[in-house]
Amino acid sequence: MKSLVDILETTNSLDGDQLAALLTTRDIDVVDYLHRRARTVAQMHYGTGIYVRGLIELTNICRNDCLYCGIRRSNTHVERYSLTVDQVMACCEHGYRLGFRTFVLQGGEWGDERAAWIADIVAEMRHRWPDCAITLSLGEHSREVYALWRDSGADRYLLRHETHNAAHYAQLHPAEMSRGHRLQCLRWLQELGYQVGTGIMVGSPWQTVDHLVEDLQFIASFRPAMVGLGPFIAQHDTPLGGHPNGTIDMTTRLYSIVRLMLPGALIPSTTALATLAPEGRLQGILAGANVVMPNLSPGEIRAQYALYDGKAHSGSEAAEGLRQLEAQLATIGYHIDWSRGDCRF
Ligand code: 5AD
Repeated sequence: MKSLVDILETTNSLDGDQLAALLTTRDIDVVDYLHRRARTVAQMHYGTGIYVRGLIELTNICRNDCLYCGIRRSNTHVERYSLTVDQVMACCEHGYRLGFRTFVLQGGEWGDERAAWIADIVAEMRHRWPDCAITLSLGEHSREVYALWRDSGADRYLLRHETHNAAHYAQLHPAEMSRGHRLQCLRWLQELGYQVGTGIMVGSPWQTVDHLVEDLQFIASFRPAMVGLGPFIAQHDTPLGGHPNGTIDMTTRLYSIVRLMLPGALIPSTTALATLAPEGRLQGILAGANVVMPNLSPGEIRAQYALYDGKAHSGSEAAEGLRQLEAQLATIGYHIDWSRGDCRF
């Protein structure tokens, strides 16, 4: 079994059965070896520096109704908000002083009538912080809207495909959404010159090992600059609120496999992983992740951006907790790398 890890490291690929074997093996020595090789490869590309991205949760207003998500439009228990331009700029100002050189504007999906408003925000950020990377994570839009935002100064775009399997996609999303359109959006973003991030929820309801293999094969062929993988965590006001959460074990195996498939990729150790266990963040890094995304949103709105139950938004998860994050990283021999952190392939 360990030889599968070696083949994956030297060829950056495995066939479906071999991937399934690594995802399901109960041999903890093999899993440990997988993680060790993945973190060695991450260190070959990025050393022991971990990039940080300042996450700004722009709005929890969303036109979509994804069955797993706490800010889905039919959840009436959420108090909806949208930050003002001044609030966004204040977040960036604060973040820049803390040392951040990447800002991520994340939010629910709005209709294109707000596209110009977003473009103005991006242009203002580009003007005021020319040395910073601007990442958007705002869902599915037309090619024209993505082009407008790119022209306004956005560099990167995060849009998880959630699951590559069409039938599974249909189980997790309402009928008006489709996997085909999600993939179309990802192709547009890549054509427009964004550094694109995609990824999935790990352990989402009805997910099988075959689905995960399909996701890995898609990731290998699409070659995203960033791969965001976090465990599914039930949100009690959603239709999937009764399903079990994903696991740290499966999530970190996927970090390691993705690291060995795409050695130079940017892989965040996600907030959802940190939500499952206090040590989750570090376990992700020890499995080959090299990015963390502390929350820069104004304190008073964070609880309203509840994609899932118990979402971590304070301590080392928050921008104010940077010293704590630095101290945690030091315990495993890592440190924060304050540079923009562009992809190395
Ligand atoms: N558990 C974990 N991740 C979730 N997301 C949305 N809802 C949940 C949930 N219940 C993730 C999706 C989305 C990202 C912004 O948050 O993968 O792409």
